[in-house]
Amino acid sequence: MRSRLEWRKARVVEARTIAEDVRAVTFAVEGLRAGFDPGSHTNIRVQINGDPAIRTYTVLPGPPGTLSIAVKLHPNSRGGSVFIWQLQPGDDIELTEPENRFELSWRASRYLLIAGGIGITPIYGMAKTLASRGQRLRLAYAAKSRHQMAFVDELAALLGDRLQFFAQEDGEALDLDSEFAALPPDGEAYICGPLGLLEAARQAWQKSGRSMSRLRYEVFGDNGRFAEQAFDVEVPQLGARVRVRADQSMLDVLVEAGVDMVFDCRRGECGLCAVNIVEADGMIDHRDVFFSEAERQENSRMCACVSRACGGRIVIDTGYRSDLTPAE
Ligand code: FES
Repeated sequence: MRSRLEWRKARVVEARTIAEDVRAVTFAVEGLRAGFDPGSHTNIRVQINGDPAIRTYTVLPGPPGTLSIAVKLHPNSRGGSVFIWQLQPGDDIELTEPENRFELSWRASRYLLIAGGIGITPIYGMAKTLASRGQRLRLAYAAKSRHQMAFVDELAALLGDRLQFFAQEDGEALDLDSEFAALPPDGEAYICGPLGLLEAARQAWQKSGRSMSRLRYEVFGDNGRFAEQAFDVEVPQLGARVRVRADQSMLDVLVEAGVDMVFDCRRGECGLCAVNIVEADGMIDHRDVFFSEAERQENSRMCACVSRACGGRIVIDTGYRSDLTPAE
């Protein structure tokens, strides 16, 4: 299965820095359908070192006919953030109609929104929507420093004492246990942030005995434990051997090489792109939120869209069997 992406032509109408290392870019989009839910994302065709690639960004609330995104410049970026940061008004790009895999349920009596760093992008839209509909909510917004937080004034004006900032450099720590304990039984938590925050939240939520269906989260796809390195991938049953550069994903390279891959979210969430690891020279940098920590430690499977080998060579099995292909 592959997503059916509806591509649209778009032109940059505004680009400005809204927090330290955070740039907001607004596009006028041809033929854009009206309205999209908070938490939606768009795919953008980017150029990385001269090669085409696709990167996914959360869409911010904005005027009809436009899409806005806010992108943090990552020092270890695979190149997507650098491309977005270079965009100027008048530049033309292609992007997709927004899709949503991080939807509000509208069934909770109270919503806890948690943002870590640039994870504020979907949470910002959710806070605005929930507040405008009179829903009970709290937003906990954590980052290394206040300077790195976007939408601070707007959120403070909108939410008042329903908003709390946690700036690490000021010694302000987010206590997930007490945040979850303050939620009523039918409360829900929505979290977007780095992998470490999501892992801690999943564990704290499980410990609290709450239904996992009431914890929803989204992760940054390029958020790894190790810096990106190039590595080689072999798929013996297909006779394929490819090189994945530091600025590419294994999924993109395999697809480009004609390997029949199954995928959907491209964010390490759905697990559809998971491949079996037959052999690996070194460590695997698991960057998904699909597998449990125990499964990741087994190192028997990995999500090709976000996870990487730390250099060397990896041998995988995609599960494809030519003898299982239906006869035409
Ligand atoms: S495509 Fe969804 S986890 Fe990789």
